[in-house]
Amino acid sequence: MNAPAPLDRRAVESLLSFWADAGVDAAFEDAPVNRLAERPVAAPLTARARTATGPAPEAAQGFTAHVPAPAAANAIADARRLAAEAQDLEALAAAIAAFDGCPLKFEGARQAVFARGNPDAPVLVIGEAPGAEEDQAGQPFVGRAGKLLDRMFAAAGLTDRVYITNTVYWRPPGNRTPSPAEQLVCAPFVERAIALVRPRMLLLVGGAAAKAVLQRPEGILSLHGRWFDWRSSDEAQTVPALPTLHPAFLLRQPAAKKKAWADLLTLTERLDRPDRPH
Ligand code: URA
Repeated sequence: MNAPAPLDRRAVESLLSFWADAGVDAAFEDAPVNRLAERPVAAPLTARARTATGPAPEAAQGFTAHVPAPAAANAIADARRLAAEAQDLEALAAAIAAFDGCPLKFEGARQAVFARGNPDAPVLVIGEAPGAEEDQAGQPFVGRAGKLLDRMFAAAGLTDRVYITNTVYWRPPGNRTPSPAEQLVCAPFVERAIALVRPRMLLLVGGAAAKAVLQRPEGILSLHGRWFDWRSSDEAQTVPALPTLHPAFLLRQPAAKKKAWADLLTLTERLDRPDRPH
């Protein structure tokens, strides 16, 4: 048997520096590994996250997450308790920062990233997860994608009418999409943010946010531009929710910007409709 060829050190250094120049700053597997879950089954997210410790939802929903292992179930219970105790957004931000139940907190994130914008806004924007710039700044959507989102909000007259947060509060390593299990454990905080802001509508930015918040299996290209009703766990609060395309996707596919623009017009049309208060 032939011995493996020795690594060419200069070639390896050159490849690493090529990757670094291209923005690669972490090595990770293609699919996130949920080390808390023991067996995969269908489970819902967010508003009905309470069902995660109850019976499994219908598989027909087609949305695959994980039934929490005991440690994750405890983390979700903790998140619910801490979220319920927070009486305002400042307290909620502090509760999130102190929460140790989301594994992402221990996978290289510098800090918790909660929210920015007008806390009295009529529109609560929910994105996917903080990226590198957000992790550094401690605020959501401040990188390239966030700047595009801000320009779109400005053009639609929405700048002061949005409060912006995410489905998870720590940067996933390598900017990967947050897993359903990570979103599930953060869901009580998302729900509490909705209760405290009491927005007239939700704008769900990107497929991972839309699927998690709405518990829908469809992709974002099918969901965007359509209104859905988000309901709180206790069914006391219902908020119309509009999924739209993620600005990071728009940076890669500029031709899709007109779809996202049409979504924002759908949002502002409903927001400014005089005859139907929400
Ligand atoms: N993408 C998101 O979904 N959220 C952020 O905060 C930044 C980038």
